[in-house]
Amino acid sequence: MTFLRNSTLAAATLALFATSATAEDCTTDKTDPFDLDETEIVALYDCIKDKMAEGYAKQGDEVAVAFRGWTVTSTRPAVAGPHGERLLQTFANDIAAEEYLKFAEEGVDMPVGSVLAKESAKLNKKKGKVVVGPLFIMTKMEAGSIPETADWLYGGILPNGKPMKFKQKFCHDCHAGWEEQDFLAYPLEEVRVSN
Ligand code: HEC
Repeated sequence: MTFLRNSTLAAATLALFATSATAEDCTTDKTDPFDLDETEIVALYDCIKDKMAEGYAKQGDEVAVAFRGWTVTSTRPAVAGPHGERLLQTFANDIAAEEYLKFAEEGVDMPVGSVLAKESAKLNKKKGKVVVGPLFIMTKMEAGSIPETADWLYGGILPNGKPMKFKQKFCHDCHAGWEEQDFLAYPLEEVRVSN
């Protein structure tokens, strides 16, 4: 009897630890995302990456469900500054990958059907906790279909899988700075995958 009670207790205690471990926060003692070094970024990403993918895919969005199986374009996430000082990592679909991975600086013309999906996570400066940010998406539509954005369709999926609401102009006004690169800004040079 005593043995039984104890083992039940032990099992209950174990179960308690197991739940608290999976719900563990992804934290750091840094307060500025630019101060995170490579090792810390990799550890934080490892901690939060499953939660990111699960959240984005929650409403069944086609890109959100598929992007983790695409070509990853950087060796690890990095903080570029734009996109809210978030940790960013971009994936390219099969149509986009070859062109995108050249990271060419001029004459870029991405094939129709190219999709770039960029996951993001944000360091909450006060709590030192990393939380999931939106999945940012750019899709190259048919030539001439959206003159205002040079045929790019900007999209976004919130951490709960719901679509993000914004004006195309909001995204394109900034991406317009990279016209020679077909409006693509690319990951930071130090993390680009070499091909
Ligand atoms: C203030 C400037 C700015 C705004 C506004 C902006 N972006 Fe970006 N975007 C960038 C920069 C810089 C990068 C490259 C940085 C990185 O990914 O590390 C980038 C990269 C991307 C990428 C990866 C493809 C690429 O360009 O290499 C996607 C997808 C993307 N942005 C989507 C969006 C969407 C969707 C919006 C609007 C909701 C948006 N962006 C608004 C600056 C901006």
